[in-house]
Amino acid sequence: MTPYLERPESRKKKIAIVVGTKGRGSNMANIIAACEAGTINAQVAGVISPLPNTPAIWRAQALRVPVKVAPGGDRHTYHLGKALAELDPFIICLAGYMKLFPEALINQYRGRILNIHPSLLPKYGGKGMYGKKVHEAVLAAGETETGCTVHKVTANYDEGPIVAQRKVPVMPDDTPETLANRVLDAEHLLYIAAIQKTLSLLG
Ligand code: GRF
Repeated sequence: MTPYLERPESRKKKIAIVVGTKGRGSNMANIIAACEAGTINAQVAGVISPLPNTPAIWRAQALRVPVKVAPGGDRHTYHLGKALAELDPFIICLAGYMKLFPEALINQYRGRILNIHPSLLPKYGGKGMYGKKVHEAVLAAGETETGCTVHKVTANYDEGPIVAQRKVPVMPDDTPETLANRVLDAEHLLYIAAIQKTLSLLG
């Protein structure tokens, strides 16, 4: 197979995907697939991860997408900035990156960093509100609907301008796991639409 960056689509606008330490990578793989299919008019230049050995990284490698490791710790901003500079992305998509994105890099890529969150922000967002905790809180509050949000990344958790949202129903017999699965299916649809919208708006 021809390596990804040597194919003709390498002239397209570039996306860098930043995953987190949990690094499951379903949104990452979905974005890569959408670029390959042409649903997103761009190409994934690379995936950046704080750890070298995660399911997301193995998936990216299997898809022949370049991988860069930007370790956490004191020099995380430096490593992440260097990896991003090497990929030279037009937009950056966070997919499972749980830390606050470094402010220096937010300033450098202002308005070009997207994140996806598994709730209808501003509800169920903020520090400590991630993964299963979000869905547990939605069920505990007796909500009849929830969903997911793509937003621009700012210096505070889950607070940037909303790009797009997608709702899903909460069923009476839902557990955090069944609800998480329904929201994740919606995330996969929403993130693709939100990236395409952002690319169009940024020109
Ligand atoms: C998603 O639920 C996303 O909303 C959140 O982190 C999770 C990443 O899942 N930010 P995956 O690694 O893309 O499967």
